[in-house]
Amino acid sequence: MVMDPLLQLYVTLSALIFKFVTVCQDGECRQLSFPAHYMYGNRRLMKHVIETIKVVDLDLCELQCYHQPNCASINFKVIPKSKGLHECELNNATHRSNDNELMNKDGYVYKGAENACDRAGCENGGICQSGFTDKGYQCVCLPGFTSAHCEKDVDECLQGTHSCSAYAVCSNTNGSYNCRCKANHTGDGRNCTWSGCPEGWKVHNYLCYYVTGEASSILKDAQEKCKKMSATLPIIKSDSANNFILMLERVWVWLGMERKNGRMVWFDNTPAELSEGALYNAWNSGEPNNNEGNEDCAVLDFDKKKVE
Ligand SMILES: *[C@@H]1O[C@H](CO)[C@@H](O)[C@H](O)[C@H]1NC(C)=O
Ligand SMILES: *[C@@H]1O[C@H](CO)[C@@H](O)[C@H](O)[C@H]1NC(C)=O
Ligand SMILES: *[C@@H]1O[C@H](CO)[C@@H](O)[C@H](O)[C@H]1NC(C)=O
Ligand SMILES: *[C@@H]1O[C@H](CO)[C@@H](O)[C@H](O)[C@H]1NC(C)=O
Repeated sequence: MVMDPLLQLYVTLSALIFKFVTVCQDGECRQLSFPAHYMYGNRRLMKHVIETIKVVDLDLCELQCYHQPNCASINFKVIPKSKGLHECELNNATHRSNDNELMNKDGYVYKGAENACDRAGCENGGICQSGFTDKGYQCVCLPGFTSAHCEKDVDECLQGTHSCSAYAVCSNTNGSYNCRCKANHTGDGRNCTWSGCPEGWKVHNYLCYYVTGEASSILKDAQEKCKKMSATLPIIKSDSANNFILMLERVWVWLGMERKNGRMVWFDNTPAELSEGALYNAWNSGEPNNNEGNEDCAVLDFDKKKVE
């Protein structure tokens, strides 16, 4: 078979110019060598084409291979009357590991690079890319695996790279992770919604709140009403709880607080006065003032946004 004269020219030129080329892109360098004895006229490597592009000559086809990290060899075909745009196929393997797929095909030139991936192994489905790093290759790991040969499992739970809900428990698995909604939450683990409150109650930070809409003129009465609903008057230990209750849009609400031994304490017996060690308080200025010995309870005033 006589080579197309045009094709022959390309091949000769290319063998002269390209021996060992380093191409750098985004700070990452790739060194590939296309040895002369890995070039075959009238051959085409089948079944490994990852990209087909149009180029003006074989050299540019080879150059495109540098820019496609998975490329390890090329098939080039001159297309007559194509105004100089010829066919360049980039392959993700070479003839060395796929000898029987290097087929006779008139008009094609096949060129393979030295491929360190023929010897290297990337584990857990990782893809080997030839020509990178001083080892001559690099592994691109599947999500969930890491390290030079992808042999290490990534602990997504530990690294915080999981997509579990904040209300879920994350557990690492080989190559992945599982999410399970916490107690009193339902969902798929990525989206967990609180399911612990009775119908019509509002939830804040795992606690259920209900506004009866009924007025109680004395604390005891309010306490009794709450008790009948298996609830208590609100005990506020944080700004966010305070703000949450303020959003319920009332005029004021009784708080779960009373005077004991001269000091205001929450119903859970924790101090409600800063001077007694309360960790949070929203007392209005001057409060609690004991109102000349008559102040035994407290309310949250929605207007002043403060406790009195
Ligand atoms: C190489 O490309 C072929 C498609 O041409 C694909 O089926 C194969 O999975 C690829 N191999 C690797 C290791 O990426
Ligand atoms: C992890 O899973 C991969 C397949 O995804 C398997 O090849 C490997 O042996 C597993 N490793 C462990 C430690 O179970
Ligand atoms: C979940 O709800 C149950 C009652 O349904 C309760 O006993 C438990 O304390 C709740 N757990 C949390 C974390 O709030
Ligand atoms: C979670 O589920 C709720 C209820 O089905 C839905 O409204 C919400 O958009 C979901 N959120 C996400 C992040 O998927």
